[in-house]
Amino acid sequence: MINNSTKKIMIGVFKGGVGKTTTAINLGHALALRRKRVLIMDLDPQGNATRGLGYEVNELTPTVYTVIKGISRVQESIARVRENLFLLPSNRTTALLETELAGEFGREKALARAMKGLEGFDYIMLDCGPGSTIVNVNALVYSTDILIPIEIGVDSVEGVDDFIKAKEAICQKLEIETRLMGAVMTKVDRRLTLTETILSHCKSSFEGKFFAQIRTDTNLGHARGYHQTIFDYDKNSRAAVDYQKMADEVIKWFRREK
Ligand SMILES: Nc1ncnc2c1ncn2[C@@H]1O[C@H](COP(=O)(O)OP(=O)(O)OP(=O)(O)O)[C@@H](O)[C@H]1O
Ligand SMILES: [Mg+2]
Repeated sequence: MINNSTKKIMIGVFKGGVGKTTTAINLGHALALRRKRVLIMDLDPQGNATRGLGYEVNELTPTVYTVIKGISRVQESIARVRENLFLLPSNRTTALLETELAGEFGREKALARAMKGLEGFDYIMLDCGPGSTIVNVNALVYSTDILIPIEIGVDSVEGVDDFIKAKEAICQKLEIETRLMGAVMTKVDRRLTLTETILSHCKSSFEGKFFAQIRTDTNLGHARGYHQTIFDYDKNSRAAVDYQKMADEVIKWFRREK
């Protein structure tokens, strides 16, 4: 199947531990269960999405690093990890790209160049590691849309403003038009009084944009421990319900926005 309108969604913000990987793999699997063809692109040297999907990498396994370095071809480096769900894995070698790309001309476009000709996916979810790395700038250049996970807490809200400012500066400098798709609130606990205040603040700053909420659910941590998605682990859990709802909203949003 040839699909020229692949949505390439960068799950990003510079802050660590806010639910980027959790969203990439569980939203990705929820979309795959809706019969969308989904590729999870792991761009984090920690390889959390790779491990979280139960995929093992050894020295011979092609990864995002070998693809960017031209050692393996992208089509041959993608693994099928579930029905309709595919993975371009990562491991610590991805960190080498920071120094190896640093002196290269057009280094911000290395990922986009390596992915040229990649077809057949409805959605590509780019799971980025924390920090303003060269790899993350590459993700920004390659994506069509950016989805920002926000963990309830003042720190992360401030981090989001910095990220949006940095994104705009990079887009302007490189003359690219990656769209700010919106935000997903993670670890939402409505029993906390602060929650409603932060939710309404964020909702208003993302007005007109995509906005979703995922409740706090310890099953997400357990699923990760077993290298499973929430749908493998417990498809009736709160998080499974929320990520399915989010998948429906994402599909609807792109239908409206295309
Ligand atoms: N809705 C949620 N409820 C409970 N725990 C959650 C939720 N979302 C994420 N977590 C937990 O929070 C921790 C961090 O999540 P995750 O690994 O997705 O963050 P990250 O942004 O990808 O981190 P990093 O920046 O290190 O890549 C994990 O232990 C995960 O299980
Ligand atoms: Mg992560």
